[in-house]
Parts: sequence; structure tokens; C-alpha cells
Amino acid sequence: MKIAVFYGTVEGHTRKIAGTIAAQLEEMGHQAMLVDVSQPGPTGVGEMDAAILAAPIHVGQYPPAFVSFIQNWKSQLADLPTALVTVSLGIASKIRVEREEAESFPEQLFEQTGWRASRVHNAAGALKYVEYDFFKRWMMRRISEMEGGPVDTSKDHELTSWDQLREFVSNFVLEVDMVQ
Ligand SMILES: Cc1cc2nc3c(=O)[nH]c(=O)nc-3n(C[C@H](O)[C@H](O)[C@H](O)COP(=O)(O)O)c2cc1C
Repeated sequence: MKIAVFYGTVEGHTRKIAGTIAAQLEEMGHQAMLVDVSQPGPTGVGEMDAAILAAPIHVGQYPPAFVSFIQNWKSQLADLPTALVTVSLGIASKIRVEREEAESFPEQLFEQTGWRASRVHNAAGALKYVEYDFFKRWMMRRISEMEGGPVDTSKDHELTSWDQLREFVSNFVLEVDMVQ
């Protein structure tokens, strides 16, 4: 099958997630097309058998380019089996309301755009302390400390469960394969 992986990113971690998904799809014998939605160019949505969309949350929002991409292509996306991978740190929080808020982001996106994915996965993201500037590092460390996350700012931390992501992608592709 031809499967697109459309992604948005601010700091690059979702690009890594999208690349990992594309590599898994190829390993499973499918043709993967990896597309950064912030770059102009053909999307190929109409030629796909399925699509996986991935984007992070920054200050409670998906990247504007990702939301615009969905708004522009929602009628073509609606004709395909689709999966949404939302990347956030709230989903890994020790505080229940933070996790619940993170779980609500996909539904907010569906209401905002009028498009709805067939399957949803909430993945924990990364803390890129080394790459943050002084103020962002200070702010992210404070938030992370409150939420029971990593506080060692001398290195970056990936909280993503690659096994859970892999399982989600496998299950989605198997479901799509069954109905093709
Ligand atoms: C400035 C900033 C704001 C963020 N805001 C949120 C947020 O509101 N909720 C959340 O769960 N995670 C938040 N995060 C965590 C990101 O979702 C996480 O770092 C993710 O891995 C970023 O993905 P990206 O590298 O693809 O941009 C924020 C991170 C940064 C740096």
C-alpha cells in the first residue's frame, strides 16, 4: 500500500517520530511518503491508500501549518483511513488533569477542522534542554519538575515509548490491510 506520513514539528522531535513511522511502514513492505506539511509542494493525498498525521503540542496548540494542512485537505483525507499521532509532554505527566488535557487535544483538533482520524495515538515527546535557550530551559525544567518529569538539564530526554508507537502503527496498518 501507499501510505503518507504527514507531519508538523517545531523542534524536530515529531520529524524523528514521523521518520520512524515511515521506516516501519517500509519494513512492513509498504511504500511510505514522508511529507513536512510546512513545506510547499505536492502532497499526493489523492494517490494514497492511507495516511498517518503527526504533530506536537506547543502552548496548548498544534502548529498552525499542520491545522491549515488539515483544513485544506480534509475532503481528500476524509476518503482515506487516517491515524493521528499527537506528541506532547502532558501525556507523560504524573498529574492526572495534565494527562486528561493532553488526551483532549485530538478531539479539539477534530472540532476545529471538521476532519476526524479513524485512529488516535498520544505519544510522549522530548525535552530538548540542551537546545533550549536559557529562559526556555528554565521554564521547561520548572514545568517538568511539577509534572514529575526529568530535571537534568545537562542532556536531552526522549519520553517517547517507541514500542507503543510501533504497536499503534502495526495495528492501524493491519486494519487498513483487512478492509482493502
Ligand atoms: C515552548 C514549549 C511549549 C510546550 N507546550 C506544551 C503544552 O502546552 N502541552 C504539552 O503537553 N507539551 C508541551 N510542550 C512539549 C512538546 O509537545 C514536546 O517537547 C514535543 O516533543 C515537541 O515536539 P517537536 O520537537 O516536534 O516540536 C511544549 C514544549 C515547548 C518547548
